[in-house]
Amino acid sequence: MDHLESGVLVIDFGSQTTLLIARRIRELGVYTEVWSCHDPRVETLPTCRGIILSGGPASVGGPNAPTLAQAVLDSGVPVLGICYGMQLLVEAHGGHLVQGEIREYGRTRVHRPDDAASGVLAHVPEHSFMAWMSHGDAARALPEALEVVAWSAGGAIAALRARDAEVHGVQFHPEVSHTEFGTTMLKTFVFDICAAPSDWTMGNLAEEKIAEIRAKVGDARVICGLSGGVDSTVTAALIARAIGDQLVCILVDTGLMRAGEVEHVSRLFRGQFDVELRVVDAADRFLSALTGVTDPEDKRKRIGHLFIDVFEEAASDLEGVRYLAQGTLYPDVIESESFAGPSAVIKSHHNVGGLPERLPFALLEPLRSLFKDEVRALGRVLNVPETLVGRHPFPGPGLAIRILGEVTVERVAVLREVDRIFIETLHEMGLYDTIWQAFAVLLPIKTVGVMGDARTYEWVAALRAVTSRDGMTADRSLIPIEKLAEIADRITNVVPRVNRVVYDLTSKPPATIEWE
Ligand code: XMP
Repeated sequence: MDHLESGVLVIDFGSQTTLLIARRIRELGVYTEVWSCHDPRVETLPTCRGIILSGGPASVGGPNAPTLAQAVLDSGVPVLGICYGMQLLVEAHGGHLVQGEIREYGRTRVHRPDDAASGVLAHVPEHSFMAWMSHGDAARALPEALEVVAWSAGGAIAALRARDAEVHGVQFHPEVSHTEFGTTMLKTFVFDICAAPSDWTMGNLAEEKIAEIRAKVGDARVICGLSGGVDSTVTAALIARAIGDQLVCILVDTGLMRAGEVEHVSRLFRGQFDVELRVVDAADRFLSALTGVTDPEDKRKRIGHLFIDVFEEAASDLEGVRYLAQGTLYPDVIESESFAGPSAVIKSHHNVGGLPERLPFALLEPLRSLFKDEVRALGRVLNVPETLVGRHPFPGPGLAIRILGEVTVERVAVLREVDRIFIETLHEMGLYDTIWQAFAVLLPIKTVGVMGDARTYEWVAALRAVTSRDGMTADRSLIPIEKLAEIADRITNVVPRVNRVVYDLTSKPPATIEWE
């Protein structure tokens, strides 16, 4: 069955939040697909209940600016244009945009006239609400066919609708959690305007992914790198369900894992899945590849390259291996790549940007369009045990990117011990599940301390704990100060090479979650 017939198509014009739109639609239980605006299929639209045009970094009419396929307007299917998508609708109806005159970024107040609770704002209970804007161009006046539904504080048209068609536009981003009533607006569009059914579940998503994997892989073999994190575990579980013993999992002991991790993951995995697991000890190789390396991107790239070598060797006795599966998620993709230039590369997440350009395998990344909490929900549908699904994320490059400066055997051992104490204590205090991700960072700079009667001159450990929905943005976790004090005491009592513990208070942005 073609699910899109009863779903909503999102056309992507390059915004960082496009997949957030898709995710919100899925959260409403409605099927959705995201197609690039450059996808030729957009010219001959499929049957669907509604179309959403995403935002994008271009200026309508500017050089190389993507345009709106005429098929979208001819289709008669309800359309919602968001930001750049709205501006395309204005232009398509003969309206004009002013460039650079009204720029609005971040939280902006939006007002709707008293009598105009219409369009996607129909169920918004307030006349004035906060919305998340990010635009340099704006619509000032509208052509006859369109009417204003709301204004922004800066005097831009914040929402509009066509007078005689289900064509709607919002200048702000309803998919972003900072927009008040954003979900209400998307619900209004999807259910009231498009009449899409709410019948899409994680179970459907699992079935769809399994079918996709089978179709793509055929009778080839797949190797899957396991890291002990949620993403690689769910990837393996999904592929195991799709192709059974054509899958071989490889757990590389990089020497950069957390305390007891390799034993823990292999035990859990072997107990749960009926799939071959190969554990490869490559600790010495990773450490020597990192000798003398201090630059964060250099570390990530070296680790990514070595991973591939190790995978290739570990699979060298297997016939017909064509795919390397990885638990790449959408936030990894968006921060490591750029689509048509909009999103700057933040860091090369090793499972995306840190890999060599020429790979001996094709990549299989079935979770690439999903966010972490969706992956957790998918894992639960696949019966992955809660002990694995509920774990904090752990980056592929491991402790290497949590040791500032050069990675040495001693530094890894020190950080591993600090991290173990931190995480065990959070579990003991009942705080672990209230936190998105917690970890320690080793700052191998020396500070003076006193222990017993002696002077010490040792390293600093920084503790980081954040709350987040999807890792794209994050807030520092407000762990009670007395709990932090207890954690700090435990660390300095047990780890002689650390005589000072600090807590990282920054959110993302401006910082990222990891320090490197
Ligand atoms: P940042 O530091 O970019 O991290 O704010 C966002 C989330 O991604 C995790 N992360 C990685 N995960 N490979 C991974 O599998 C990587 O190279 C990598 N780098 C960061 C990070 O732990 C956080 O959850």
